[in-house]
Amino acid sequence: MSSNIRLLVLVLGLAGVLNSQQNCQNIGDIQVFYDPTCAQGGPGCNAGGQGELFNFYPPCPVSTTTTTTKSTTTTTKSGSTTTRTTTPSGPTTSRTTRPTVPGGCVTEEPEIWENGERLVFYDDFDFLDFNKWRHDLTMSGGGNWEFQLYHNNRSNSFVKDGVFHIRPTLTEDRIGEANLRSGYRMDMWGGSPADACTGNNFYGCERTSGAGGNILNPIQSAKITTSTTFSMKYGRVEVRAKLPRGDWLWPAIWMLPAKNVYGMWPASGEIDIMESRGNLNYPSSAEGGVESFGSTLHWGADWTQNRFHLTHEIYTHPAPLSDEFHVYGLHWTEDRLYTYIDDPSNVVLDVDLTSQNFWELGQFSDVYENPWEGAGANAPFNDEFYLIINLAVGGTAGYFKDGVAGKPWTDKSSSSANEFYAAKNSWYPTWNNKDLDFEIDWVKAWSFQ
Ligand SMILES: *[C@@H]1O[C@H](CO)[C@@H](O)[C@H](O)[C@H]1NC(C)=O
Repeated sequence: MSSNIRLLVLVLGLAGVLNSQQNCQNIGDIQVFYDPTCAQGGPGCNAGGQGELFNFYPPCPVSTTTTTTKSTTTTTKSGSTTTRTTTPSGPTTSRTTRPTVPGGCVTEEPEIWENGERLVFYDDFDFLDFNKWRHDLTMSGGGNWEFQLYHNNRSNSFVKDGVFHIRPTLTEDRIGEANLRSGYRMDMWGGSPADACTGNNFYGCERTSGAGGNILNPIQSAKITTSTTFSMKYGRVEVRAKLPRGDWLWPAIWMLPAKNVYGMWPASGEIDIMESRGNLNYPSSAEGGVESFGSTLHWGADWTQNRFHLTHEIYTHPAPLSDEFHVYGLHWTEDRLYTYIDDPSNVVLDVDLTSQNFWELGQFSDVYENPWEGAGANAPFNDEFYLIINLAVGGTAGYFKDGVAGKPWTDKSSSSANEFYAAKNSWYPTWNNKDLDFEIDWVKAWSFQ
């Protein structure tokens, strides 16, 4: 851009980036567009012998909105007469488009409104879209010494027929059992920005098998997040998913704070829309297996003071949740946060964000500072959160309780991964089924404004 164009732009008070493309700008309420190549000629072009300047045109054309309502056709047969009636019924979808005109307003992404809510994130997994999702790359085990490592490998995360799959596999199939057990250094630092390890805590980026007596993470899996691409504050999230079936699998659809404005976990909150155990016949007294899932908010003055049990609910389905796809939803406003299955009316966890703040609810001792002081009754659930979808395995933080369902490791053991792996013959056969994968059909999020 030549300096006289830049000057003219400043003089005219145009904010924004000019590039060689034709573009559309707003000046206050007035939209204008300009034609830097003067392809359309007209006043302003070549003015004052300054060569190829640009030309301002009248206001950009007005956006048009089309609203469509899904209709239902009913066919009734009475004797030899067939009557067809078509009645409109929800949901309605409206799309706002700004038309392209000569001289060239670049049309923005159309706004899509569905039943009065604005679609702000949508992935139906036609392909694995790295502009929407990023993989975690780490062996850290999520702070729970879980038994999987997360990496970016199409054996463990892939799209097939419009469905995103996370499939757990054995690390020994990649590096061999001897390397899994001793003397093999796994380095996840990578060699380029897109390869860089994302979680160094708990020895997440480098481990050597056999060091400290432990095998390397015996399972390979995947965790995708929108941490660098999308976050939201209030709105609705729906994920259509089929849960994985297999012992000690731990799938989750959840959200973490984008900025930690109240401090480190869990002071800034965590929203777990769905967490489940892949085991068949896991006792309901221990919150159930593949037919159940939990929704939970995590929050607390510090990590030793997590009061999640006060905002935790279990849903149990009549059949395994690995049999069919279900919608796992979150509805989140300033006043209320609830999760649901299939339809917003099937509420699972319901948290009133108005009557009591989380400091009072948690009854924290005065030795802790209130991280949400003066921040509103709904803090920490009043800031941006991003989406996470992952499939973990095992772990030692008590999600799978010692002694329940023949759990082959104990949480207190210093070599729980070894114990888990030594019992491979008990759990690996349960993974040999067509419902092993955690499958995601689509993810949608809406804003209420
Ligand atoms: C992905 O994982 C498979 C199975 O473990 C392995 O054979 C393959 O080499 C990996 N691909 C890459 C690109 O690392």
